[in-house]
Amino acid sequence: MLLSGRIPKHVGIIMDGNGRWAEFRGLPRIEGHRRGVERSKEVIEVSVELGLKALTLYAFSTENWQRPSSEVTTLMKLLELYLKKELDGLIKNGIVYKTIGETWRLPEHIQNIIRNAEEKTSSNKGMILTTALSYSGRNEILRAMKKVLNAGVKPEELTEDLFNAYLDTAGLLPPDLIIRTSGEMRISNFLLWQAAYAEFYFTDTLWPDFTKDEFLLAIQDFQRRERRFGAISVRADAF
Ligand code: IPE
Ligand code: IPE
Ligand code: MG
Repeated sequence: MLLSGRIPKHVGIIMDGNGRWAEFRGLPRIEGHRRGVERSKEVIEVSVELGLKALTLYAFSTENWQRPSSEVTTLMKLLELYLKKELDGLIKNGIVYKTIGETWRLPEHIQNIIRNAEEKTSSNKGMILTTALSYSGRNEILRAMKKVLNAGVKPEELTEDLFNAYLDTAGLLPPDLIIRTSGEMRISNFLLWQAAYAEFYFTDTLWPDFTKDEFLLAIQDFQRRERRFGAISVRADAF
């Protein structure tokens, strides 16, 4: 599949609206999450086909721990099933699997499954697939700051590049495009530092309905954007 125009190198997605998708149908919220996993698989496949260098999926925020424990348990179970079922596929597609966030807060057996997936895919050369788990941007920045202090970095040595190296996303390019589904127009603590110059795409579509075609629409929208990074546009420059 080919889209004319530039392809973003790194896309981040706030996958929102699973609960509402289910509630609108009189189904338990878990059905929305289940269906949401199917959409994640599709988006990962399309991202590989498009040649993205990195895809980061916001799967569980630090604040999501406040949800009823039954919902949290279900989400963990879905993550476990996903990693168990899809690991071979990730390896076959050359994907490097990573996580960001306080993953040590997850149940231990899930931590083991995550570690296994990270290890088995670490020498792959393809797209970097990162899931944000027990993640919040402020928490990540604060943890990075603590690491900087513990490392004895002197104030005059601290640069943006050096700080990047202490973030969970160390080594990843910043996101070019951040997509949020479900009509909410907020960042909900996702990649706060990294999103400084990301393009944002909001859609009313709920995550369980975010099909391949919807994803391609988001990419096409990105392709029409003019990114200036604070400078003036090339066209304006000509006058
Ligand atoms: C996104 O869907 C999935 C997670 C946050 C884990 P939600 O569960 O937030 O769905 P809504 O926003 O309640 O519809
Ligand atoms: C953001 O969705 C987190 C994830 C998609 C994992 P939420 O549903 O938790 O965000 P709010 O509460 O609407 O801001
Ligand atoms: Mg939500």
